[in-house]
Amino acid sequence: MKGIILAGGTGSRLFPLTKVTNKHLLPVYNKPMIYYPLETLKEAGIDNILIVSGKGHAGHFLELLGDGRKLGVHLSYAVQEEPGGIAQALGLAEDFSDNEKVVVILGDNILEDDISKAVQDFEKQEKGAKIFLKEVDNPQSFGVAEIDGDRIVSIIEKPKKPKSNLAVVGVYMYDDGVFKVIKSLKPSTRGELEVTDVNSYYVKEGIMTFEILKGWWGDGGESFDSLLRASNLVAGWINNK
Ligand code: G1P
Repeated sequence: MKGIILAGGTGSRLFPLTKVTNKHLLPVYNKPMIYYPLETLKEAGIDNILIVSGKGHAGHFLELLGDGRKLGVHLSYAVQEEPGGIAQALGLAEDFSDNEKVVVILGDNILEDDISKAVQDFEKQEKGAKIFLKEVDNPQSFGVAEIDGDRIVSIIEKPKKPKSNLAVVGVYMYDDGVFKVIKSLKPSTRGELEVTDVNSYYVKEGIMTFEILKGWWGDGGESFDSLLRASNLVAGWINNK
């Protein structure tokens, strides 16, 4: 399986921190944010990784991470010319994926859990997709899943009246059909190709599985508070080890 880290976007929710720097390069405790998703993939045995970033910042990632050798991974790069949503950024990875399954992680998502077991399970899953869910206090800020036993019934992006407190974590596993799904998508009201629409396709087809994250999860890019929280979670974790 191949790995894809999505690190584009304008980071407007974190202005002025992101005026000249990409959000995924901001510090989270003692490392640039993107190190965490990179380590999550590496820990799960995925070492062939594509980083999709935005225009104007691609060079910074290259300078920081190079070909990945020093971190024990092999890195490739792609550039999203204009912010058009998570699904559009993922669409740029079609050639890279080369018909393999992919694990996609948003560059601002920081996980305590080792996802190796879920990745192995997905290797064995005949087709479809797999996502991670986590109980949160503010589901309105995320994609929210409604579940019935071990089945996902629906996923709604940033609902005003969430049907559960289970947020969709920014780690997604897809079969090689995902690129065809992306090509069939229409932009949402905010003009983006939404990852939730990709996931909803797999839910409707009945081929979406999920895991609940056990450890903490930080979405470092959502707000100043979430960035601070991510730093505090990492600091607590490192200092208690
Ligand atoms: C994105 C997704 C959302 C998901 C979240 C996880 O939201 O659209 O479904 O729950 O990532 O971090 P964003 O953070 O881009 O607003």
